[in-house]
Amino acid sequence: MKRASIYERMTSAGADARRPSSQQDDRASRRSGLGPRGQGLFERLFGTSRTNSQPTADARSEAPVFAIASGKGGTGKSFVSTSLAVALHRAGHRTTLVDCDFGLACDHLLLGVKPGTHLQHVVQGRLPVTDVRIETAHGPGLVPGVTGVRQMTQLQDHEMRQFGEALGQLAAVDDCVLLDTGAGLSPQTVLTLCAADHVILVTQPEIAALTDAYAVLKTLSQVGTEVSLSVIVNRVTEDGHGEATFDKLQDVASRNTGVELTFLGSIPDDPLVTQRRLGQAPLVVSHPEHPTAVSVLDIADRLVECFGPLGPRARAPRQDVAQRLLAHQRVV
Ligand SMILES: Nc1ncnc2c1ncn2[C@@H]1O[C@H](COP(=O)(O)OP(=O)(O)O)[C@@H](O)[C@H]1O
Ligand SMILES: [Mg+2]
Repeated sequence: MKRASIYERMTSAGADARRPSSQQDDRASRRSGLGPRGQGLFERLFGTSRTNSQPTADARSEAPVFAIASGKGGTGKSFVSTSLAVALHRAGHRTTLVDCDFGLACDHLLLGVKPGTHLQHVVQGRLPVTDVRIETAHGPGLVPGVTGVRQMTQLQDHEMRQFGEALGQLAAVDDCVLLDTGAGLSPQTVLTLCAADHVILVTQPEIAALTDAYAVLKTLSQVGTEVSLSVIVNRVTEDGHGEATFDKLQDVASRNTGVELTFLGSIPDDPLVTQRRLGQAPLVVSHPEHPTAVSVLDIADRLVECFGPLGPRARAPRQDVAQRLLAHQRVV
């Protein structure tokens, strides 16, 4: 029943049911500050640059931040991220997707935009994130990443700080921020996951993908983040395999780490998913009634049901996205 409403929004002419602009205005001035520096591996990233960004004790209001992760490459994170961004935005939630696959970005291709500026300009402090954010044709905003730039895989202290501040600026004005992350467990990727409110693991019904998804959740549990976790099983070829795959992961996770996972749903293996030409619309736009698109729309509904409502939430002091990112430097 819930899916019908999102489906109607996806297929209706007035799909972009945006929230009143007065609510956006209300958030425009809110910004996150920075947390205290700590000890550990990431201290070198932040340890030299305490300047005018001292933490403030006041509570802030920010939209939920969802990071999409997998451990293993090629599980469908970018497909899921771009599809969810379109689905959520068209369901009336002002959404921005940030391409946090540092160095191997592709969300701009999947959303059919040719960016002139990108995340590197933001982390280098050359442009505010609000100038780099593009309104894509299919609805959501996008902060594009860069491909093949080695510096983006080894961000410096001031760049990581700029990154956290940029996420906070987006969360202050959006209803929902999605972070499409890269494969692997590099410190800056783990730190990005720690900055989120919620991590969505995208896995597949195969041992390698499951093992790597487990490695991500184990790492998050070891660094002590309070981020909640859910699972999407992608490229499912038989009915029931999504649930069975989730059950295996949940079983291992709860026995070894005590982490409880939420099953968001599964997505069929479908050749229609692969975009074969530049500018091709995402499946949820081109074929919203197709079962694979419907499965993604179901997942968007479930995400809101389980981890919504979207929109601004009051944050406890030092719990905004920028400060969460910095706070985990001690343990990542
Ligand atoms: N459900 C699916 N069915 C078929 N192909 C898929 C599906 N999901 C993703 N793919 C394909 O798998 C490849 C990797 O997907 P991508 O989203 O780029 O993964 P990641 O971001 O995790 O590296 C792409 O070619 C994509 O089209
Ligand atoms: Mg990707």
